[in-house]
Amino acid sequence: MIDGRRRVPPIRWALVGGGAGSAIGYIHRCAATRDRCFQLVAGAFDILPERGKQFGRELGLDSKRCYGTYKEMFEKESHRSDGIEAVTIATPNSSHFEICKAALESNLHVICEKPLCLSIEEAQYLQDLARERGRIVGVMFGYAGHQMIEQARQMVLNGEIGDIRIIKAEFAHGGCAKPSPEEPLQWRFNPEVAGPSFVLADLGVHPLYLIRAIVPTLKISRVSCVRQSVVRSRAPLEDNAFVTMEFDSGAVAFMWVSAVNTGSQHGLRIRIVGSEASIEWCAEDPNNLRYEPVGGPPVTLRRGFHGLYTSARAEDRISEGHSEGLFEAWANLYRRFANAIVGGDEGKMNEPSWYPDANDGAEAVRWVERCIESSEHNGAWVEMS
Ligand code: NAI
Repeated sequence: MIDGRRRVPPIRWALVGGGAGSAIGYIHRCAATRDRCFQLVAGAFDILPERGKQFGRELGLDSKRCYGTYKEMFEKESHRSDGIEAVTIATPNSSHFEICKAALESNLHVICEKPLCLSIEEAQYLQDLARERGRIVGVMFGYAGHQMIEQARQMVLNGEIGDIRIIKAEFAHGGCAKPSPEEPLQWRFNPEVAGPSFVLADLGVHPLYLIRAIVPTLKISRVSCVRQSVVRSRAPLEDNAFVTMEFDSGAVAFMWVSAVNTGSQHGLRIRIVGSEASIEWCAEDPNNLRYEPVGGPPVTLRRGFHGLYTSARAEDRISEGHSEGLFEAWANLYRRFANAIVGGDEGKMNEPSWYPDANDGAEAVRWVERCIESSEHNGAWVEMS
């Protein structure tokens, strides 16, 4: 169980984006600093330099380390003996590549929001650069940090589900069922900022990574996708899409991604059907995993209880019966990022060490590209490789 102790000092860490009023900055700051894995020492929090500096001061940072731009921050921090070692990028999509590139060129470890970037070429460039510089790139597919995802992964790897036959995944919320003037949503409908996709890149990459996390042996061979702009003003970006996937193993998957599923609050769920049993997990009920073996009886496995895999209990922060949530899931991933950065035996107390990395980020970018290509040909099958 995690109790906040750590044998190594926190990694000196900065945030780009995630400023005042942003959707995702607060959970990054809470998750990264939760177990003293990272310490926030600097930031370039906002597209508006003065507002970003003011925000940093209000977070209690040294005003000299509240920067107007990420370029200035990387430059000035590189001259300090106590300069930053890692940075999280929580800005809108189109800036991820250039900020990630600049961070790696400054020899920083990077945690990047999804999508990692907007094209396969960019993703390849970042992967090569990270390898060359010996730095990690983590991608914040945050739901994968829930302990019951680790439980599902272990059940699959240990044969409890049998051969994987079918996967049904969904991330279909109703948050954009009507046109909305809300500021954080607006850039998501603008291809110059969001990139070539709305819901595939914004939502679909999450269940896509859950498939990779739970069944790491599966490799997608081809995809077929159709997508729509249900709210017409959002064209050419889709706010709804259906994706069918085939895997090398013969398994098949179907995914529905949508922001116009009227009435649905969050709508992220995944069902994995094997020859021996099915398992099902829903982000709105993340402490539970449904297990349905052939012939029954169906069982709900619950976070924290004896009988779960050791690695699925190693990241608990409170005993069974209590609830943990998304903040803890993200903190789990931040622990794994930190352990990968620090190396050695820190964090090897049965805790999972896998995490969404540059390769996973790149595969998600490739998947979005292939889905768009398929949709442009009326859903024709497109090879993944
Ligand atoms: P937002 O629009 O709410 O906030 C963006 C923040 O970045 C703002 O503070 C803005 O001033 C700042 N910013 C923009 N450009 C900047 C620059 N060049 N330098 C410094 N700061 C800059 O956006 P939101 O919803 O927080 O999304 C940010 C990223 O996080 C997106 O890539 C999105 O896809 C991702 N995201 C990921 C989620 C997840 O579950 N992993 C959930 C929500 C968003």
